[in-house]
Amino acid sequence: MILANNFQTEYQSIQKEIDDAIHRVLTSGWYILGKEVEQFEQEFAQYLGVKHVIGVGNGMEALQIGLMAMGIGPGDEIITTPLSAVATALAISNIGATPIFADVDEYYHLDPTCVEKLITKKTKAVLPVHLYGQPVDLDGFRLLCKKHKLALIEDAAQAHGAEYKGRKVGSFGLFSAFSFYPTKNLGAFGDGGAIATNDDGLRDSCSMIRNYGQKKQYEHLVRGLNSRLDELQAAVLRVKLIHLDEWNEKRRNIAQKYNEAFNNHLNISTPRERSNTVHPYHQYVISVESRDALISELRNKNITTLVHYPIPIHRQPCYAEYNNLDLPKSQFATKNILSLPIHPFMTTGEVGQVIKEVLNLTKL
Ligand SMILES: Cc1ncc(COP(=O)(O)O)c(C=O)c1O
Repeated sequence: MILANNFQTEYQSIQKEIDDAIHRVLTSGWYILGKEVEQFEQEFAQYLGVKHVIGVGNGMEALQIGLMAMGIGPGDEIITTPLSAVATALAISNIGATPIFADVDEYYHLDPTCVEKLITKKTKAVLPVHLYGQPVDLDGFRLLCKKHKLALIEDAAQAHGAEYKGRKVGSFGLFSAFSFYPTKNLGAFGDGGAIATNDDGLRDSCSMIRNYGQKKQYEHLVRGLNSRLDELQAAVLRVKLIHLDEWNEKRRNIAQKYNEAFNNHLNISTPRERSNTVHPYHQYVISVESRDALISELRNKNITTLVHYPIPIHRQPCYAEYNNLDLPKSQFATKNILSLPIHPFMTTGEVGQVIKEVLNLTKL
């Protein structure tokens, strides 16, 4: 079976480093918000080229805590994309603010032109998602946010190591949010997330909010959450961060092989790469007309594929008040997109097998 991920092989490839790191934490006697989290925060900040990283419980709460730290709440609008994990919108709704959905561009990303039409007096921030790992049009968003005096927030949950004009994504917005869910390019052995920012005040607020709103023990300045990255996950992430660039390069090599095989195929649209970017291929997403048939035929050939995402957020039952909204490009995408297996531990044989079967099944 060719899977979307192979966590066992990944673990085996770095077993000694991981086991040592876990042993170090277990014998330290300190399991929450200690030296490992502090070290990871510093190492990831250095990797991203930002001043501060704050480790939190997961990617959704990274977004939510950052928004809370900005003072966002009821009556405020945040413009975002309907083509993302639902967590992007939930982070906004969970604090009583209103997500406003704008349509996507040909890269499946929030389109700055569509965003501009939706800006009102209530708009406080624009929240694009570096979907599939590929950087969004950051120049476009920075210009737009400057023009309308809005904050730019990056959902970088899928984009560890992605670069835009030579700079790591996650370093462009007022803050950015990362997820370390196990499937991510930098994944923990459980839940984890982080906020990255260059803003000292925002860093202080986020640090308080993740820990019950306390600045010093038992003195609570704001009503916070319990959203703390734990020492075990931080120790694991410190090991994996060392391998991230090498693993991303392997993903890029597989993407290149897929591109070579599918680029001139009339029935398959391959992913477009933005110029001046490094795309770490969290997902390799093609678009085909008879997507659902292809999924089941590939499953019969023991190849697992996924759809990111089959329902746009504005059409989800939990967002019933938006269900009549018409965002044609997002809606069209959800019917045709298909994520092929891509991870650093795929063998050349497996990549070849996927290519062979996809070509066979999409023959003209
Ligand atoms: C784009 C995006 N944003 C936010 C999240 C939320 O991250 P987490 O699952 O760690 O809460 C995810 C994770 O699936 C994601 O892909």
